[in-house]
Amino acid sequence: MGASRGSERVGVRRTVRDFLLMKERGERIVALTAYDYLFARLLEEAGIDLILVGDSLGQVVLGYPSTLPVTLDDMIHHARAVRRGAPSTFAVLDLPFMSFQVSPEDALRNAGRAVKETGVEAVKLEGGDEQRSETARVLVRAGIPVLGHLGLTPQSVNALGGYRVQGRDDVTADRLRREARALQDAGCFAIVLELIPAELAGEITRELTIPTIGIGAGPQTDGQVLVLYDALGLNSSFHPKFLKHFADLEGEARRGLRRYIGEVRSGSYPGPEHSFSAKS
Ligand code: KIV
Repeated sequence: MGASRGSERVGVRRTVRDFLLMKERGERIVALTAYDYLFARLLEEAGIDLILVGDSLGQVVLGYPSTLPVTLDDMIHHARAVRRGAPSTFAVLDLPFMSFQVSPEDALRNAGRAVKETGVEAVKLEGGDEQRSETARVLVRAGIPVLGHLGLTPQSVNALGGYRVQGRDDVTADRLRREARALQDAGCFAIVLELIPAELAGEITRELTIPTIGIGAGPQTDGQVLVLYDALGLNSSFHPKFLKHFADLEGEARRGLRRYIGEVRSGSYPGPEHSFSAKS
């Protein structure tokens, strides 16, 4: 049993049912990405509801220009580290580009491997057209909870013509409403809405019985998710309008590095207090 902190639950893994109940009760779902053991441990200790091992891994950890080069093996490697750091937090593995697009059968094989080899509770897949919602249905039928993802779907960045707000015109907004319903009908337990107008996100959120988790989708979604390094201010070169830095880890890291370099060069580190003698 985990400890209780007010209405927060620490050390008790949530379930897909809990997320539905949270929506019914109007409780906001708080999610962040993580890619490694140490940050996953911090997120679990902080009482986060859901950890997404996002394929943003490609950009923020591996230094790729997009999420497209990320492989299923990359995702599994990092999700296992996250699981070790956060054994009691609901974790979702983001299915990377080309691990679910080929066919529902291929997606099932890959999602099954992801769950078996990492111990995550669920997978996420981008898109909501007929094929994607059929794929979600196949995974859910096999007992794998699926988090949908609509709006800006970064794996389609080349087709979308860049990282831009989606659903500003009636045709795209209608398509997003339709795809959200289709993903819900397919059995998704929640849907990420990325970079869409706040009014549209609110409308979709009110229409669905499953929760929506927004990123750049305004305040009316049932929850929020951010890329961890963005939220903690570890990457000051990335500052889209929707982003708020909740800390300045980049500044802290730069100051610490300057101090370390200065003290080693000046000889003030290590001092006697950091050194061992021959006697105990
Ligand atoms: O990969 C990721 O981090 C994501 C979130 C931005 C939703 O998909």
